[in-house]
Formats: sequence, structure tokens, C-alpha cells
Amino acid sequence: MFETLTKAPGDKILALMGEYAADPRPTKIDLGVGVYKDEQGATPIMTSVKKAEQKILSAGKTKTYLGIAGNKGYGAAVLDLVLADSVDRSRVRIAQAPGGTGSLWVLMQLVNRARPGATVWVSDPTWPNHNPIAENSGLQVKTYPYFDTETRGVKFAAMLAALDALGKEDVVLLHGCCHNPTGANLTPDQWDKVAASLARTGALPFIDLAYLGFGDGIEADAYGMRKILSSVPEALVAFSGSKNFGLYRERVGAAILVARDAAQADIAQSQLLNIIRGAYSQPPDHGAEIIRTILEDAELRAEWETELNAMRARMIRLREKLSEAIRQRSNSKDFDFIAAHRGMFSLLGLENSVVEHLKANNGVYMIGDSRINVAGIPEDRVGELADAMLAAIK
Ligand SMILES: Cc1ncc(COP(=O)(O)O)c(C=O)c1O
Repeated sequence: MFETLTKAPGDKILALMGEYAADPRPTKIDLGVGVYKDEQGATPIMTSVKKAEQKILSAGKTKTYLGIAGNKGYGAAVLDLVLADSVDRSRVRIAQAPGGTGSLWVLMQLVNRARPGATVWVSDPTWPNHNPIAENSGLQVKTYPYFDTETRGVKFAAMLAALDALGKEDVVLLHGCCHNPTGANLTPDQWDKVAASLARTGALPFIDLAYLGFGDGIEADAYGMRKILSSVPEALVAFSGSKNFGLYRERVGAAILVARDAAQADIAQSQLLNIIRGAYSQPPDHGAEIIRTILEDAELRAEWETELNAMRARMIRLREKLSEAIRQRSNSKDFDFIAAHRGMFSLLGLENSVVEHLKANNGVYMIGDSRINVAGIPEDRVGELADAMLAAIK
């Protein structure tokens, strides 16, 4: 049977990780892979997570099935965290899913059941996994303008014009915060305009929320999504707990749907649960139970927020240090955008030859499109990195 297959393309980020691991230079710098890193270049388990795991371990009594929608307490806690009071909960349903990716997957399947072959509009550029998830679900993908390669900000007028031209049958995928790969994000005023456009056209907002708390804080990062949810009759949200809880390998996320009313929400949820049952039956519990334990316990929640704030502050500090170092050396503000961006990534807008040169010559690894993970910048070697970047650009 397998003779009918040809080799599928490998994942570029995983290939780069392999190249980095094989590089013997002790001075190499990993700005590639999309996981948070601390001062030591490690991705440690958060203290709040460790404490929650200890509680779970000693209190646990059973490993029996939880049901298709997963951990109910987790679902309720995630809705409080994500939605706050932006939308009447009678219109909202949630199903725990394996990571942000699994949440995107089941929601795309739901879109295809409701509107077979619909077009999903994604930002140009977007997270490379959006396209296959949508296409493998039977949907079509088109792009709306997003990143301005001149300013390295958002091409907002062009983006809004494209959204204004959509209709009821369209689906618009938006990064809730901390855009991946660009790092360029909408201002609150721009979110207001996007929400008004969606309310006007009837296009369905589908929000990918993979980095809540990594940009300017939980509330600020949730602003745009909540504004949209409070402005439109229907919406989808794919939440991930991979980054903000550091639970990457536990595969914890949630598929959230907002319907016109409770009756439609029940019908849509029944379809969502039917999709899950026919795919993997039920989600894994451990990550969800960790998040539930943290969010339901005032002390653990405060500790988690302190840890999340520290991660965010470190990323903003590294952004400021790198743009400052480049400004001092080059006497130009060309890289000030790094400090203005938010989240874990910035798209530098470098030619692929420059990216390759930095890898070969300096052992500086970034994704081929010149996306860097700012958490990978070694704080004590920012000047060295700025020198390498400026030399490579010349
Ligand atoms: C934009 C975006 N969406 C979704 C995800 C999914 O994350 P996970 O499936 O690991 O929770 C990621 C992870 O890199 C991402 O960057």
C-alpha cells in the first residue's frame, strides 16, 4: 500500500531545530523554535504548575473517562479567563481539545459542517499551520493584507478594506494577540474598527488565542477578542494553554463557540462533540486539570500570574535591549520596531541570504522568513547579536 505514497514535506522549524542541535559551536544562538526560554535558555516547568501537579497527584482518585467535552471545571475556568463578561454565557459552549492546534482543528471541522468548502481568510503572513488545518478540514484559504514589510507594522488600511469587502459566507481568522510570526499587532482603536467591520459584513470571526498574557498582560491581550465577541452574533475561539502555562507537551487547549442564542449553541455544540467523538473520542486530562487547579485556587492563580508577568517583562526587556543596541551601533531607528512588537516573535524582514549568512557565519538560527523568538536572545550577548545582524545586512 505505501508504494502509492510520496514523501511529505518535513516541518521547517523542526528541521532547523535539528540543524541547531548538530551545530558544535558553543556560541550558537537559537532564535528559531517557538517556545519560551529563560535566562539559562531552558523552558522550565512553572512553579505554579509544579504545585498544582503535587496537589493533583495526592488528591487524585480515578483515571476514568471525563467525557467528550473534557474537564468541566477547566472549561468553566477558561471561559472566565478568556471571555470575562464580554458575552452572555447562555450563547457560549466550550470543549477542551488537545492544544491550540487541536482546538483549531475541531473548530475548522465544525465550520466545514456548517458551511462546506467555505473560505477562511488568514493574515498575510500567518502561522504556517493554519493553512493545512483549514485545507485538511475541507475549507479554502485566502489571505488578507496584514504585515507591512516597510514599517514592520500592520498595513491596517489595506487589512480593513479587505475585511470590509467580505460577506456572510466568509470566515476571518484573527490572531487574538501576539501575532505569529510578525509580532505586529492591532491597537485597541484598530480592534474596534475590525469588530465594527465584522458586525457590518456578517463574516464569521475565528480567533486564534495562543499567547494570552504574552503581549501586554491578560486583560490588554484579550481586548480585541472581547470587543469582537461583544459586537457580533457568532464567533469561534481556539485557546491554547501551551505557552502561557508552559504546558506545551500536555496538549491543552479549548474550542469555544459563540452562537446567536442558547438553542443554536446547543446544536453547534452537539456537532462539535460529534466531531471530537469521531476523531479522538476525548481529550487528555492532565494539562487541563493543572490549569483548572491553578485558576480555581487564589494563591496558585496569583503565583501563575506573577510568573506569566515575569516571562512577559523579560521578553519586552530583550526587545528593548536589542533595538537599543542596534540603534546605538547603526545610528538608525530601522530596528526600533522590535521594541514596538509584542509577543514571542518578531519578523525582521531580512532577505533569506542574510538569514543563511547569520546561521553559517555566526551560528545565529532564525526561521527562514527571518522570524526570531525574542525569548531566545541571550541577555548578556545582545551587543554581539546586534553586531552580527548589522554585519550580515551590509
Ligand atoms: C498562532 C498559533 N496558534 C496556535 C498554536 C498552537 O499551539 P499548541 O497546539 O501547541 O497549543 C501556536 C503554536 O505555536 C501558534 O503559534
